[in-house]
Amino acid sequence: MTLATRASARNALPDFVDLSTASGDTTAEILAGLNATPRCINPKFFYDSHGSALFERITALPEYYPTRTERGILKAFSRQIAQATGTRRVLIEPGAGSCEKVRLLLPTMQPAAYVPTDIAGDFLHASAEKLRSEFPWLPVTAIQADFTALTAMPESLPAGPRCLFYPGSTLGNFQRDEAQAFLCQAATLIGAGGTLLIGIDLHKETATLEAAYNDSAGITADFNLNILRHLNQLLPANFDLRAFRHVAHYNEAEKRIEMHLESRKAQQVDCADITITLDAGERLLTEYSCKYTRDDFALLADAAGLTVRHCWQDPAGMFAVFCLAPSGT
Ligand code: AVJ
Repeated sequence: MTLATRASARNALPDFVDLSTASGDTTAEILAGLNATPRCINPKFFYDSHGSALFERITALPEYYPTRTERGILKAFSRQIAQATGTRRVLIEPGAGSCEKVRLLLPTMQPAAYVPTDIAGDFLHASAEKLRSEFPWLPVTAIQADFTALTAMPESLPAGPRCLFYPGSTLGNFQRDEAQAFLCQAATLIGAGGTLLIGIDLHKETATLEAAYNDSAGITADFNLNILRHLNQLLPANFDLRAFRHVAHYNEAEKRIEMHLESRKAQQVDCADITITLDAGERLLTEYSCKYTRDDFALLADAAGLTVRHCWQDPAGMFAVFCLAPSGT
């Protein structure tokens, strides 16, 4: 672990903390997924600098409604949201990426400090620098880390009551038991008096969902395939991106988008020190994006020790933003 680097004059804490090597053996984790049945790659590996940039392009696509819908909610209710989350908080955002959405909350929430974290360190570093120049009053400590486990947060976060900001329905990448475990960790991280502001994509008709993950410009396909390019670098491996096809469909029974890379032919791929053999048509699972009803989500949160204080949604009921607090506080 390299503790950092550019200590700012204004903060006691450094501007940038690199915890990326603190999260164990990446190679072993990837190979375990590639050898599993069905074979899978954790969606966190979408996000190298190129993948983060592709994701930003997805957020602007006409078919990809979640980002603009959630932004609309944050804008329309920013005062009510700040009242519910509390002001002058230490605002922590796992998977912050471009740090775009938080801009909508800063004027009303007036956080005491902002702590964005992301697995893609260079991308996060650039976003944090840009944010600092736009909001000079805001102390920003950016953390490069795999936030799948919130327990990986450094102990020395700025002092004060916390608000965890988890927009984008990123929770949807977890299966139900993992999502519950993440919410439990969230409850612990914020503690009594803390709040969680979370964006959740709602269950809706299949055609709308499938269009959002199969855009006509093919950006989602590029984003999906980029995970192989990232593995080629990380492991290294020799995936041929042209030998795979993007597949995304909505599983109505499980209420989730399932995204895969389908092998266009029988092939062998060298991955670190092993070789995997893929049949023609065999799929690598790259992402679940689970959708919830409001009640579903409230039940899941309740099982994790969190109570819904408020819920805001867009007029069409596509997306919801919840403010929660540890139960009994
Ligand atoms: C960032 C996880 C919320 O599931 O919609 C977008 C990622 N994948 N298009 C999502 C994503 C394909 C996105 N999340």
